[in-house]
Amino acid sequence: MARILAIGTATLDLIFTLTHYPDEDAELRARGLRPSLGGNAANTLVVLSQLGHMCAFGGVLADGQEATPILERLAGHRIDLTACRRVAGRPPISCVLVSLEGGTRTIVHFRDLPEYGDAEFKRIDLTPFDWVHFEGRDGPETARMVRRLRETRPDLLCSVEVEKPRPGIEAVFADVKMLVFSRVYANYLGFDAPHALLFKIREQAPQADLIVTWGKEGAYGLDRRGAIYHSPAFSPVEVKDTLGAGDTFNAGLIDAYVRGRGLADALSLACRLAGKKCGQIGLEGLGEKER
Ligand code: ADP
Ligand code: FRU
Repeated sequence: MARILAIGTATLDLIFTLTHYPDEDAELRARGLRPSLGGNAANTLVVLSQLGHMCAFGGVLADGQEATPILERLAGHRIDLTACRRVAGRPPISCVLVSLEGGTRTIVHFRDLPEYGDAEFKRIDLTPFDWVHFEGRDGPETARMVRRLRETRPDLLCSVEVEKPRPGIEAVFADVKMLVFSRVYANYLGFDAPHALLFKIREQAPQADLIVTWGKEGAYGLDRRGAIYHSPAFSPVEVKDTLGAGDTFNAGLIDAYVRGRGLADALSLACRLAGKKCGQIGLEGLGEKER
């Protein structure tokens, strides 16, 4: 069991299940509607807590009524919220269209909250933690938090997820042990192959293990010694829901690292867990007993 702090977002996901993805201006009756906790960092913690870890979340939480399911679900997973900043207003809300025709998830996201930053992070007592994970959002703020972590607790292991292009996020590259990129980010930088991205990032982050997820092709990694790895995806019998696959993958990676596994094993374990998630609806039931 490790003590893991994740910094990022917690959202309310309104998940509509549809027989197929609709045309623009169409009217379609959903097969199901499920409100759920979402947000990359929150999702990753929900999975890590099921894997037996003690989890804490640092993010901005709204106090409006719509935030109730978010707070309930975080509490249900015993995720500590001491590090959170509470503000008046609506929580971030995502309208998610999950198509039963292949399990794709299309996300429309609304957010009207300030970003969590170093002003909040510097108040956290980092003493109990074994690992800190950042959902890379505001570039300069994430860089400040990561720098503070490195200066105050150089021994504390740290990962950053770089899912979307964010101005200034590159400033974190030289300061962390693990960087996880998305295919979207690789494409944004002009790379249509995973290795090209990894070798490019390595110039700015020689100290880090680098990972990029590649959807149905699995994930690729380049470790600090320069060794390259690939794990194929673990396809479930039926792909039911890919929402949160990347967040589950990140939980699998962190879980493997805190248990002392190397990048090759971690990639494979993370892909296995993410594949399992794709074969089921939602993020429950991914824990120890089920592994
Ligand atoms: P995100 O959910 O952030 O868009 P990806 O689509 O890259 O991230 O998926 C993350 C990981 O989830 C992949 O590396 C892979 O292991 C797994 N995965 C994604 N889609 C599938 C799928 N259709 N079948 C099996 N595994 C999948
Ligand atoms: C999935 C997710 C959803 C959320 C959206 C936010 O990775 O975290 O739960 O609505 O992304 O961008």
